[in-house]
Amino acid sequence: MDNGLSEANDAPGGAHGGSWEFGHVAVLLKPAIEFLAVQRGGTYIDATLGLGGHSWEIAKRLGAPGRLIGFDKDPAALERARERLKSPPADLAGDWPQIELVHASFAAVAERVAPATAAGLLADLGVSSMQLEDAARGFSFQAEGPLDMRMDPRSGLTAEQVVNRFDERELADAIYEFGEERRSRRIARAIVRARPIQTTAQLAEVISAAARPMNQAERRIHPATRTFQALRILVNRELDDLRALLSVAPQVLKPGGRLVVISFHSLEDRIVKDAVRDGARDGLYRVLTKKPVTADEEEIDRNPRSRSAKLRAAERT
Ligand SMILES: C[S@@+](CC[C@H](N)C(=O)[O-])C[C@H]1O[C@@H](n2cnc3c(N)ncnc32)[C@H](O)[C@@H]1O
Repeated sequence: MDNGLSEANDAPGGAHGGSWEFGHVAVLLKPAIEFLAVQRGGTYIDATLGLGGHSWEIAKRLGAPGRLIGFDKDPAALERARERLKSPPADLAGDWPQIELVHASFAAVAERVAPATAAGLLADLGVSSMQLEDAARGFSFQAEGPLDMRMDPRSGLTAEQVVNRFDERELADAIYEFGEERRSRRIARAIVRARPIQTTAQLAEVISAAARPMNQAERRIHPATRTFQALRILVNRELDDLRALLSVAPQVLKPGGRLVVISFHSLEDRIVKDAVRDGARDGLYRVLTKKPVTADEEEIDRNPRSRSAKLRAAERT
């Protein structure tokens, strides 16, 4: 079946320059677009523009009477998405929706979108490969960079401040809670002893020395993975923002409107699952995914980032 998804030719970043240079491929693109059931002329929210891959597919289906409102906390991502979305493919040049890009957290979605107006809301959580691959942003333990990790460089604490200022107990609790890391106390102790820690590589080294893998399963992931995840979640208040988004989503969606959320770790997925289940119990949603949709082998081969992705969808009643 032709699902109308972009192939190389009209894929933004292919013909229009943009994100492929970072290797960012939108995750679970096909199911996301199918569950959104994008209708021409509707108002759709992309809560996490990133490089605009999902937005592009939404825009293509909306046509000139449609409206796309995109959010991102990261001004660099917003600019990328703007570049990408400003030039429609030639055959849609006269039939491109109105696009508004907002530099804000998606937690503020209800301040920007009128009640019961959205036909769909998509959130593709976490960081983009552009953010991960830019060593200067400090998200990756695989590249030497400053310990920053802020999606919005104008806001709040950096990971460097957290790592060097939190006391050992606070650090251990955060690593345990947001990283689901059982070796949190040992890691926190090693971090405190090694302070000051300035770079991602230095932190990764301290963690690796402190937390040797305890079993075969742990050997498969880098020992710093969970601690880096914890710091990123903490620095960006990711779980609070997600809860805030999910609490207002039923307000901005109109009856029949679709909520689609793609998460990348169990903490996020649990929050989404509970919000959708509670919404269904309260008569706000009809659940469309009994089990989360995951990437097939072909997608995982093409895009390893999709391995941990889980998509859940619901329809506003
Ligand atoms: C996984 S990427 C999205 C990729 C996008 N779907 C695409 O196809 O290119 C997630 C993006 O969401 C942004 N983001 C994460 N949390 C956010 C929040 N609370 N509010 C706004 N944007 C957020 C990140 O800055 C990042 O650019």
